[in-house]
Amino acid sequence: MDENKEVKADEILVGNEKFIPMLTEEKIQSRIKELGEKLTKDYHGKFPIFIGILNGSFMFMSDLIKHVDVSCEIDFFKLSSYGDAKISSGNVKLLKELNADVNDRHVVIVEDIVDSGLSINYIERLINELKPASMKVVSLLVKPESLKYNVKIDYIGFEIPDKFVIGYGLDYAQKYRNLRSIYVLSE
Ligand code: IMP
Ligand code: MG
Repeated sequence: MDENKEVKADEILVGNEKFIPMLTEEKIQSRIKELGEKLTKDYHGKFPIFIGILNGSFMFMSDLIKHVDVSCEIDFFKLSSYGDAKISSGNVKLLKELNADVNDRHVVIVEDIVDSGLSINYIERLINELKPASMKVVSLLVKPESLKYNVKIDYIGFEIPDKFVIGYGLDYAQKYRNLRSIYVLSE
């Protein structure tokens, strides 16, 4: 513990870095309910397939899908992460392929956070080659100031500043994914 830093009960100290609450569990869950209701309307009768990007999206996918009241399927891609860093390495590696056949299907990509847009751009190109009937993206978080790729996020939970966040599926060196709220690195 750093003796020079004051840490309140709801703050998280990682080495010398302090994370403070940004989005509470209540706020996240009520927004996810709204997104689920919107998707329920938009995908009525379309038998969509929701494709999560592992690892980060596992918790969002699980909560979102509970509010989607249409017949649907789910599958996952797994991409390489940032490793232990807070900044993207700038390249993506596919660690797990899709198992489902998305040809002629209505695809909804489920992401935890869109930062530069590199990962979504990569996934969109992969899925496009499989000729889906349609393809949309839902992301719990988007950092609009960080976007470097031309991607359209169709359903956004929250727009957040260009700062590193953890919790609710999002990791820092693979840790803190189990937190129910989202915390931001304080400067
Ligand atoms: P992008 O490819 O630059 O858009 O980054 C997307 C991926 O990087 C996300 O799916 C996350 O796994 C990870 N990521 C981006 N920003 C953060 C963050 O603030 N905290 C934790 N992971 C992040
Ligand atoms: Mg991710």
